[in-house]
Amino acid sequence: MDEFTRERIARAMRQATRIVVLTGAGISTSAGIKDFRGKDGMYEIVRKRYNLPSPEAIFEINFFMRQPEPFYEMVRSMFAMEAEPTLSHRFLAWLEEQGKMSLLVTQNIDMLHHKAGSKAVLECHGTLRTASCLTCGRSFEFAEIRAAVLAGGIPRCECQGLIKPDIVFFGESLPAEFYTVHLSPPDADLLLLMGTSLNVQPAAGFALNLAATTESILVNRDPTPYDAMVTHVVNMDLDRFCQDIWEEMEKTPS
Ligand code: OAD
Repeated sequence: MDEFTRERIARAMRQATRIVVLTGAGISTSAGIKDFRGKDGMYEIVRKRYNLPSPEAIFEINFFMRQPEPFYEMVRSMFAMEAEPTLSHRFLAWLEEQGKMSLLVTQNIDMLHHKAGSKAVLECHGTLRTASCLTCGRSFEFAEIRAAVLAGGIPRCECQGLIKPDIVFFGESLPAEFYTVHLSPPDADLLLLMGTSLNVQPAAGFALNLAATTESILVNRDPTPYDAMVTHVVNMDLDRFCQDIWEEMEKTPS
């Protein structure tokens, strides 16, 4: 990032008090969690290993009911490593502490924003924290099925029903609170889009609607099809970006 862009973005962030953020899988890759569509992402891995109709099938309910293994392989890899929040997660928690954040929407299910200390987090694709039996509806804490998953198994309920973590699959509704903010977005003076290919609706639509009326910054390693809709596009590593901006903001406090 050149000096001019760095100063301009740091100034916008210093002045902002109602930042809305959308994060995607790219914010967690430096913690060791794979993204989906990036180079060597999860979709490429499952496509090679399992003969899937499409890589997204791991998040399709009918496919999951027939073949839950690819989905659980992804969950297992996420849990086996006990990932820690990245510098970027910590930067967002710090922004909230500084009273600058209005809302943080994450598409991620890895819970790293909470682990970093962020509080106003809307997990729009659900979470791995809890799970439910697809047959009888019984609810589980993830801790209850963790051992079975880590041992390579597919967790089943006492009723023998398949257990699915409470994350949003394609075709399922997002949490009600997401539609509330989608219909009536919070008052924002800056929009930050971080580590997302903006490929998945309605999360991307929520952000791009807001970008039509709000100064916006997209930080992503690769270009996205929607770059032209954003005020500033920065194609670089997120941790590097956050470190640069954090240092710049601390140099000149608001
Ligand atoms: P994607 O995998 O589609 O996009 C992640 C983006 O992050 C890619 O464009 C990478 O270039 C970028 N990236 C990766 N590492 C980075 C780094 N260190 N610094 C900067 N950029 C980096 O992930 P999402 O947009 O989050 O759905 O995907 C959205 C949804 O698609 C996911 O929530 C998931 C999936 O189907 C569910 O889990 C239901």
